[in-house]
Amino acid sequence: MGVVQELNYYLKSQSTSLPHYVVEQLIMGLVSSIPSLVGVGLRGIAYKAILKSEGLPLIEHHVRLLSPANIRLGKNVYLDSQVYLNALPGGITIGAGTNLMHGTIFHVFNYRDLPQAGIWVGKNCFFGEYTCIRGQGGVHIGDGVYTGTQVQIAAVNHVYTDPDKYIKDQGITAEGITIEDDVWLASNVVVVDGVKIGKGCIVGAGAVVNKSLPPYSVAVGVPAKIVKDRREAAAVKKQVEGQVHFGALEDMRPK
Ligand SMILES: CC(C)(COP(=O)(O)OP(=O)(O)OC[C@H]1O[C@@H](n2cnc3c(N)ncnc32)[C@H](O)[C@@H]1OP(=O)(O)O)[C@@H](O)C(=O)NCCC(=O)NCCS
Repeated sequence: MGVVQELNYYLKSQSTSLPHYVVEQLIMGLVSSIPSLVGVGLRGIAYKAILKSEGLPLIEHHVRLLSPANIRLGKNVYLDSQVYLNALPGGITIGAGTNLMHGTIFHVFNYRDLPQAGIWVGKNCFFGEYTCIRGQGGVHIGDGVYTGTQVQIAAVNHVYTDPDKYIKDQGITAEGITIEDDVWLASNVVVVDGVKIGKGCIVGAGAVVNKSLPPYSVAVGVPAKIVKDRREAAAVKKQVEGQVHFGALEDMRPK
């Protein structure tokens, strides 16, 4: 590849056009590393020029945004420090009131211009620290979804049919992942491509979900197996008898 081609390839991975790239780098260079409420306020105003946001986005310092013109944020979306959003074609949509905690990565990874690629997240979701989503096949997440730390949602698999060729050079398959409303994926869960997780499901810590789960399942293990329906009498009884703590945070949050 010649230098011009290399540069074009690099630019395509960073932004939607050269003029966009220049403006984005300028704005982010000026305000992305300012800490405190002052920084949050400045970015809330300045980043409206480079991404699409209803109201002022709440963005901490050292958030990394690539192709921000393909990022769409609802009201009161919160991006904690070190969040990394790479919005290649297909883009990233995040619904109102959703929080991405420290180190969360949403990467559309659509270098092949796949029409189904992208990441769409509903309202009032919460993504725990270092959760990572890869969106080649398209990742569709409903409202009120909660992930623990370091959850992996990867809508892609590598083709491995030819043993004489590097796997990385054999192409990919990318069917997509759907996670419906009110799902809880506990810490270190992995969700692989082609899976649909039904409304209200719970997936236990460390599980690998490689088959779709019907609504309200509780599934655990590698591979994830359903151990109960959370609406069953015994499951409800165990929860009701447990000691539940409500705290200031729940009370303070705007409804
Ligand atoms: C999935 C989870 C919520 C289930 O809780 P529960 O409804 O009380 O379920 P139980 O403890 O009755 O477990 C049911 C069965 O699944 C097994 N199990 C539970 N969690 C498991 C896990 N993470 N991995 C493997 N097996 C698990 C239990 O051993 C039990 O099996 P058994 O019937 O053979 O003894 C809980 O175990 C869990 O993984 N919590 C995640 C904690 C976490 O990540 N917290 C961070 C905040 S997001």
